[in-house]
Amino acid sequence: MAQTKNKAVFYCQNCGYESTKWMGQCPGCREWNTFVEEVVKTSSLKNPGRGGGAGRTAPAVLADITIQEEARLSTQIGELDRVLGGGIVQGSLTLVGGDPGIGKSTLLLQTCWKLAEKGHKVLYISGEESQVQIKMRADRIGSFAEGMLLLCETNLDSIREVIQREMPKVVIIDSIQTMYNEEVSAAPGSVSQVRESTGVLLQLAKGMNISVFIVGHVTKEGTVAGPRVLEHMVDTVLYFEGDRHASYRILRGVKNRFGSTNEIGVFEMGQEGLAEVHNPSEYMLEGRPEGASGSVVACAMEGTRPLLLEIQALLCHSNFGIPRRQATGTDLNRVNLLMAVLEKRCGVQLSGCDAYVNIAGGMKVQEPAMDLAIVLAALSSFKNRGISPRLVAFGEVGLSGEVRSVSMAAQRVAEARKLGFDTCILPAVCMKGLQGDGSMKLIGVRSIQDAVNALL
Ligand code: TYD
Ligand code: MG
Repeated sequence: MAQTKNKAVFYCQNCGYESTKWMGQCPGCREWNTFVEEVVKTSSLKNPGRGGGAGRTAPAVLADITIQEEARLSTQIGELDRVLGGGIVQGSLTLVGGDPGIGKSTLLLQTCWKLAEKGHKVLYISGEESQVQIKMRADRIGSFAEGMLLLCETNLDSIREVIQREMPKVVIIDSIQTMYNEEVSAAPGSVSQVRESTGVLLQLAKGMNISVFIVGHVTKEGTVAGPRVLEHMVDTVLYFEGDRHASYRILRGVKNRFGSTNEIGVFEMGQEGLAEVHNPSEYMLEGRPEGASGSVVACAMEGTRPLLLEIQALLCHSNFGIPRRQATGTDLNRVNLLMAVLEKRCGVQLSGCDAYVNIAGGMKVQEPAMDLAIVLAALSSFKNRGISPRLVAFGEVGLSGEVRSVSMAAQRVAEARKLGFDTCILPAVCMKGLQGDGSMKLIGVRSIQDAVNALL
């Protein structure tokens, strides 16, 4: 064991930047006045987290390593399994981040419920709520089986003891910001405390082959406190997001050592906790105005999953010299660019128009494949002419007004067909191998002018 020595280190409370002296502005994130001194014992600083024995450091021949199918534990919640890459990997450490009140505790409690029902031993450790509060929440979800254990504790030493005694299969830590390690003198929630606590949990997970879920609250700036530090230590990072005013929630994988990222799981918050949404397209399109001008359905891809979304645009006469442009759920710069392309290539005078573009339902999508639908919605609103409600459009728009190819066209068309749409406008180059039929007409376009001629 290295000699322990107290050392003062300054951490940026916003991004986790470490410095030996105090600074007014953080070189990492450029925020002011974010440095706080935290005393750290030097021996615990040198904690790479992976544990491992000393002395046995021989390299292995890569070709000789055999892969065993990772033992995965299904959570029985299809949408969560999908984001995790097929289930919980034994001995993995997963971070679940999200705004306060979004439903992280509910999701994990429901996971515990399903696992306990299957006869697995799970331990839910809460540092935020009392046992009675959790019981009240649990009663809304259902009746729990024997295997579900509950512990209200924030001291990591006690937590380690309980885990070693009980040997559960899955442990939930709710939340990492409330946990503290006595060896670190900094306050709970500070960067060094969060980092040290995660290190301890990592060792427990890897050493005892227990799967650990860590809840992390997202700060105002939209990152988990001590974010970079936490994200690279854990195996999987999931973000739980959603609109406060809408009931749906999206679980997004941003890092996964055991599966693909960019997968999403869709849930709906209801009276009995979170329910899975198996067909998000149908859910997103609910209550859409049929045949109104400025409304076009687009098809985005979230990972390998096609998602139909309604794009709304409103163009109206501007009362000011500089027209107002606003985008909700998509990139404003992209909208500005598309308006310019539309003006130049289709000869419509938009410089005197305010333009508002909105992705209905509160989803956020940055995919260029939405371009064509945004252009069509804008033009539909400008001309005040509705577009068929049974039409789906997708394609990237280039600066010359050309419609460029996008990936996975076949899946997008299939999703539109599944939901009963009868026309699809897509890039002509994506038509290869695709065939329309009686129930679905495919229109391949080379430029936005082609698309406009076909529709408006
Ligand atoms: P919670 O899981 O406590 O959020 P987090 O742990 O991310 O802070 O979610 C709390 C919100 O969910 C709260 O506003 C109430 C709501 N909720 C329901 O609408 N229905 C339910 O069945 C439950 C358990 C919670
Ligand atoms: Mg909570």
